[in-house]
Amino acid sequence: MTVSSAPGKVYLFGEHAVVYGEPAIPCAIERRATISVESRDDDHVRVQASDLSLDGFTVEYTGTTDDRPDVDVPASLVDAAMGYIDAAVEQAREAADAPDAGFDITVESDIPLGAGLGSSAAVTVAGIDAATRELGQPLSTEELADRAYRAEAAVQKGEASRADTFCSAVGGAVRVEGDDCRSIDAPDLPIVVGFDGGAGDTGELVAGVRALKDRYDFAADTIATIGDIVRQGEGFLDPESDSDLDMEARIEEIGRLMDFNHGLLESLGVSSRSLDSMVWAAREAGAHGAKLTGAGGGGCIVALDPTPETLTALRFTPGCEEAFRAELDDDGVRREA
Ligand code: MEV
Repeated sequence: MTVSSAPGKVYLFGEHAVVYGEPAIPCAIERRATISVESRDDDHVRVQASDLSLDGFTVEYTGTTDDRPDVDVPASLVDAAMGYIDAAVEQAREAADAPDAGFDITVESDIPLGAGLGSSAAVTVAGIDAATRELGQPLSTEELADRAYRAEAAVQKGEASRADTFCSAVGGAVRVEGDDCRSIDAPDLPIVVGFDGGAGDTGELVAGVRALKDRYDFAADTIATIGDIVRQGEGFLDPESDSDLDMEARIEEIGRLMDFNHGLLESLGVSSRSLDSMVWAAREAGAHGAKLTGAGGGGCIVALDPTPETLTALRFTPGCEEAFRAELDDDGVRREA
């Protein structure tokens, strides 16, 4: 049996706009998906997933990827999760030139499904890594990130950026602009995450932004403005940059730009009432800034606050199911066994 894990992430800036070639800055966090893969004698794929999410949001099923599992989350989400696993299997088979390889796959994850924390990228990255190693064809991190991107793009009908999968493969903070993917230095950020217990359908949300962009010039301008925010924000992240601000003042600036970024995502129609109320709860508690993270529609917000105030406020905010502090994870994909 071969086991790999890969981290989830939060977006400091740039989701959605990154699909159209603007830069984005996701950061890996210490929440992981762990995938165990064992080769089979036939060409079947059997997937067993437990705890694909946080408390109260569990997916459990056993069966071939054609069977509909018995779960307590929306069917569209499970279909999406299975789609990513299928696509990962296809990439592994292709990479190892083993089109008929069959696998028993076990997924264990503490990243909520479809909630903006990169569960699909983590499952895809860890799945391809474990399956290719099980077939005796380990991939370099670059190849792995590329194959994981292709798997995500296939599930999202071609509309995906390299951001989630690259970040999950290499860990830490990264900057992605089109095909240019690189690790960047980032200070220790006081990240707080609020989770509304819900989820969004990434494919649908990305398609909705695409429709707005194609229809309205000001939506296209909004996307370009998000790119400007990212370019501004990365200057404050870089410890080597020559700004004479100290770290605390830089983090305040980053927070202010996150607030801007959230406003623009809201205007593109990808926020929700619960995401907005968590963002406002964080701001009112004194967070430096707060925004939704990932595709939106429901799921998680990310705030910056070194004090306990935002965490406490979120825990008392109606609609917030869970709040936690997230540490940056410098490890990307990890070979566990
Ligand atoms: C989803 O986690 C991030 C999006 O920008 C889509 C993508 O980059 O593929 C919305």
